[in-house]
Amino acid sequence: MCGIIGYIGDRDAQPVLLDGLQRLEYRGYDSCGMATYIEKKRALSVRKLPGKIKDLEKLLKSKPLMGNCGIGHCRWATHGVPNQANAHPHLDCKGEIALVHNGIIENYSVLKKELSGEGHKFLSQTDTEVIVHLIEKYYKHVPIEEAVRKALHKLEGSFAIGVISKKEPLKLVGARLGSPLVIGKGKDENFLASDISALLDFAKDVIFLEDKEMAVLTAQGIKISKLTGEPVTREAVKIAWDVSQAQKQGWPHFMLKEINEQPKVLDNILSRRVQQGKNRVFFEELAIPDKRLSSVDSILIVACGTAYHAGLCGKYILEDLCGIPVSVDVSSEFRYRNPLVSKNNLVLSISQSGETADTLAAVREAKNKGAATLTICNCLGSSLVRESDGVIYTHAGPEIGVASTKAFTAQLSILYLFALYLAGLKKTLPQTKIAKLLDKISAIPRLQTEILKKQDLVKMSARRHHHFGSFLFLGRNVNYPVALEGALKLKEISYIPAEGYPAGEMKHGPIALIDEYRAVVCIAPESRIYEKMVSNIQEIRSRRGIIIAIASDGDEKIKDLTREVIYIPKTDEFFSPLVTAIPLQLLAYHVAVKRGCNVDQPRNLAKSVTVE
Ligand code: AGP
Repeated sequence: MCGIIGYIGDRDAQPVLLDGLQRLEYRGYDSCGMATYIEKKRALSVRKLPGKIKDLEKLLKSKPLMGNCGIGHCRWATHGVPNQANAHPHLDCKGEIALVHNGIIENYSVLKKELSGEGHKFLSQTDTEVIVHLIEKYYKHVPIEEAVRKALHKLEGSFAIGVISKKEPLKLVGARLGSPLVIGKGKDENFLASDISALLDFAKDVIFLEDKEMAVLTAQGIKISKLTGEPVTREAVKIAWDVSQAQKQGWPHFMLKEINEQPKVLDNILSRRVQQGKNRVFFEELAIPDKRLSSVDSILIVACGTAYHAGLCGKYILEDLCGIPVSVDVSSEFRYRNPLVSKNNLVLSISQSGETADTLAAVREAKNKGAATLTICNCLGSSLVRESDGVIYTHAGPEIGVASTKAFTAQLSILYLFALYLAGLKKTLPQTKIAKLLDKISAIPRLQTEILKKQDLVKMSARRHHHFGSFLFLGRNVNYPVALEGALKLKEISYIPAEGYPAGEMKHGPIALIDEYRAVVCIAPESRIYEKMVSNIQEIRSRRGIIIAIASDGDEKIKDLTREVIYIPKTDEFFSPLVTAIPLQLLAYHVAVKRGCNVDQPRNLAKSVTVE
């Protein structure tokens, strides 16, 4: 929801904070700011504004911040509109403490009333500001970290914070509960950040703070403790990501770069997960014993957004290959419906960030009910990874575009491979069949590359349809969730109302919407149910609907039904989502660009939804 960054060391803090904020901007971009301690003035200084990091950069050119210790923030507003007063950092009454925060303080109004009654002056409408005034209240004859500790015990809700103080300028304090916070270890310098993408330029060794932990950073040292005070020892881990992976590298947008990375991502997954020649799948980090996995009698998938759509594909994949029932829930529904979960279930969470609050809560609910929990995740050391019994990393590299693309096909790929792994454990498939299916999936990166080579055709189709006021996406079987995903991609970056539907359901309502003003994207690759899709297309055509068909190379018949055909290479229907998703991602991207939308930072969205 928001991004925070902190620095203490020998360098000037401003450029480090600015670079970190630029890498965190995808987490929130309606306002931003930073604060540093200025030795000469023996005071804290703040620059903040409603707007983007580039606006802050312009402000800093005219009014730079000196100092070697500072904190920065990019905001996705929850309490209080994006304006100067509500932007972070926030200061205490005397301007001697500065704080940045990611999360939501649920009891802030009670605390604000109490603190106002004690004479504290509030300048913002935010929940965050109560934290810095609480710290001020307790910051009497104790070190800043003890004042922070006392203040945090008063809070209900979630937080990841960075704090600096004028009285102890050689300290940078961080703490977390429910929102992510990672420490970067440097030589005579240390860093705090919401996620590792902000540290890629500066530190390769990182320490992930766990919930209810605090860190006191100086230029030379890092002290971690529980919020209750007990010291914590934690080893640093090395970041595998390279800074270039989190840069556009000449692409106009991160989203287009990430769409085009998909063949490489799948190749990388296959080379890591399939023992060549032996046709054996393995997950070195899985950590759930095979015995426990093979005894699982049903799988419950929980996820949000795009990851939820991957989970819906997972139902078809896992039930087909492993012969056990699979349910799929939106995390925010799962956690509140008192789900029937037992120790014989596997709860499989899917999350690119590993920090989605609803999915985290769903996994906690499942663990409380005794289920084994496994997460398919892209971010090393994220909360979901730490709180699940096992993890399978997608290794898709940093996904910066807010609209998830390569993470989706990476999640699908892991679902296929995990299903084959489980089918081997449960002996629901002979090894020869597993080998054949591995062979088929290993051909997919080449097919994806073929589509990407012709992406200009999708661009032309997008240009011809960018003016439509609404879209309907239809698919069947394992491409029904892909229809949902195509609709999500389009609506979240072009703001055009779009909905995905199982094609068989069209006659049960949506057909009433069909007319010459609505574009209907029909996913109709070569498959057992191709003829059914053709009937749907005919029904749309007879009502003058405008059709864009996703069809297999060589399909001449479809041309009799619509001129707008986006061809994809022939592939086994079972694996087709790994291919059909790509033209839909490109269609959404080019429609949004044509409509002048901010593709990488769509309005109102954030990359990682770390609050409910
Ligand atoms: C997808 O394009 C969106 N950005 C959003 O729906 C996202 O998939 C959802 O918030 C889940 O995020 P996660 O995978 O990090 O848990």
